[in-house]
Amino acid sequence: MIQLPTPKEPSQAIRRVAITAVGAYLPDRVLSNDDLERMVDTSDEWIRERTGISERRIVDKGTGCSFLASRAAQDALRRRGITADDIDLIVVATVTPDMSFPATACLVQDQIGASRAWGFDLSAACSGFNFALAAGTQFVASGAAERALVIGADVMSSITDYEDRATCILFGDAGGAVLLEAAQDGEGILGFNNQVDGSGCDLLKMPAGGSIRPPTHETVERKEHYLQQQGKAVFRFAVRNSADAAEKLLAELGFSRDEVSFLVCHQANARIIDAVARRLQLPPERVVKTIHKYGNTTAASIPTALRDALDRALLAPGDLVLFSSVGAGLTIGTAAIRWGGERTAPASAETNSTGP
Ligand code: UT7
Repeated sequence: MIQLPTPKEPSQAIRRVAITAVGAYLPDRVLSNDDLERMVDTSDEWIRERTGISERRIVDKGTGCSFLASRAAQDALRRRGITADDIDLIVVATVTPDMSFPATACLVQDQIGASRAWGFDLSAACSGFNFALAAGTQFVASGAAERALVIGADVMSSITDYEDRATCILFGDAGGAVLLEAAQDGEGILGFNNQVDGSGCDLLKMPAGGSIRPPTHETVERKEHYLQQQGKAVFRFAVRNSADAAEKLLAELGFSRDEVSFLVCHQANARIIDAVARRLQLPPERVVKTIHKYGNTTAASIPTALRDALDRALLAPGDLVLFSSVGAGLTIGTAAIRWGGERTAPASAETNSTGP
């Protein structure tokens, strides 16, 4: 559990950090349930009932993760009214980098022209955004960076077997990005509860293509370069652990459930989101959902859902927002944020270290 300083515990060295802009990029191409009915033995009814998904977006073949990540980053910068030269750090969460190396963060740095920035990639699958948010926050909190871009982007269509009905109906492609800066009064990231349980590694993975099973004709023939999932086990783990982690974080921060304004869950399955919301006793109107139109976009799902909530004017300054995710690893990611609203003008020179 990482708890960031409160006003009762002032710190010279650590300052509170806020999300000051949110960007997203969704490819134009729609892959509908009707399209999938023509590809595998499935039905629109089964997909909607079991997952809540009606359609998802996918890129044209040959489009890399860095393209989605850069577009999302540029969207965030445009909304904030700053340029890429103002960025010190780029953290990219992805399981579908353009290539094993160099890191996608390096490609993004070049594509957006962030001349002063350094950066790195981080792999935590569907919790990737929450983990990257925790990492980026430390740099801004310590003053090592003034402005950090935290990006979640995945081209899930590049590792999906479109002959496997159990997985191909689930995933979509997208990029989402947030800008982190020193917080002003009454806003900021309050804390994280991020965890891993590596004993669940086999439940969700892409077996080949890494060092233990480098790609060969045989691995391709066995389709080991596609993601594989034991859906039911992951489902159960997600429901139990998302809610538990969120409750622990709320307790640690001294909040009750009914103080939560919005839950922004990783969008893996509408039934998981509903079950987590039920366990947290949050009514549907306080739960953000994009699963029906974007599917599961892995690291991109929380920032794109946040962008969607902002576009629908759901969030207001002062709201307590929870981010929650479970993903391959298995990973659990949770963050609590006192939402301050997006900043649209260039940063004022005055920021401070006090929180809400
Ligand atoms: O984001 C990272 C974390 N991932 C997740 O959180 C995913 C968690 N898991 C899930 O969301 C669900 O387990 C799935 C949506 C993947 C699957 O739903 P399920 O209710 O667990 O279905 P199931 O795998 O138990 O399959 C039930 C039946 C099976 O048929 P039989 O054996 O009962 O005859 C499957 O073969 O549904 C069949 N089935 C399908 N039928 C039509 C599986 N996929 C499909 C399909 N269309 N696409």
